[in-house]
Amino acid sequence: MKIVVLTGSSHKAGTSSLLAERFIEGAKESGHEVYRFDAAFKNIHPCIACDKCKCGENLCVFQDSMAELSPRLIEADLIAFVTPLYYYGPSAQIKAPIDRFYGIDNMLRGAGKKAVLLVTGTNNREWAMKGIVGNYTEALQYLQWQDCGQVLAKGCCTREDIEKTDYPQQAYLLGKGL
Ligand SMILES: Cc1cc2nc3c(=O)[nH]c(=O)nc-3n(C[C@H](O)[C@H](O)[C@H](O)COP(=O)(O)O)c2cc1C
Repeated sequence: MKIVVLTGSSHKAGTSSLLAERFIEGAKESGHEVYRFDAAFKNIHPCIACDKCKCGENLCVFQDSMAELSPRLIEADLIAFVTPLYYYGPSAQIKAPIDRFYGIDNMLRGAGKKAVLLVTGTNNREWAMKGIVGNYTEALQYLQWQDCGQVLAKGCCTREDIEKTDYPQQAYLLGKGL
């Protein structure tokens, strides 16, 4: 499979980056082709809803790093969303390219793609990931994509925290088992 790993943290050696690394390791071991896009280190303007793109009929008015990501998304079989939890949702860094899916919506929606979700957050309460999982599930329902698994790393504020858990191993096994 062709896999796009879309990350949303500014911490190059942070918690979600560790999940991304382990997921990629597993996926590559199983023979998948992986392209990683670290949104925090790219130039992506938020969607301004001008609707000039008409959901993919025309080019977006912003010519930025989406020019690099969009063709990868269109050809991908699976997209891995990897983000820290920010106020119980995805980080702004990953939300910007997700909202820009609008500019190629007609090439993504109903295209039979798969997805996985990997999240890290400090809170370890039972309810802590409900919002982000709900957002992901509804987006997949709209896009008509299939969920292939989730790693919800609760109670992980720092790299030191997550290294003491089996969440990185869960990420590896998720990639390996695709
Ligand atoms: C702006 C901001 C908002 C955050 N919001 C939450 C939150 O809503 N729930 C939570 O459990 N942790 C929250 N955190 C903690 C991070 O999710 C946590 O430290 C995570 O491990 C950081 O991941 P990273 O190292 O990949 O950047 C927040 C951190 C920041 C900086």
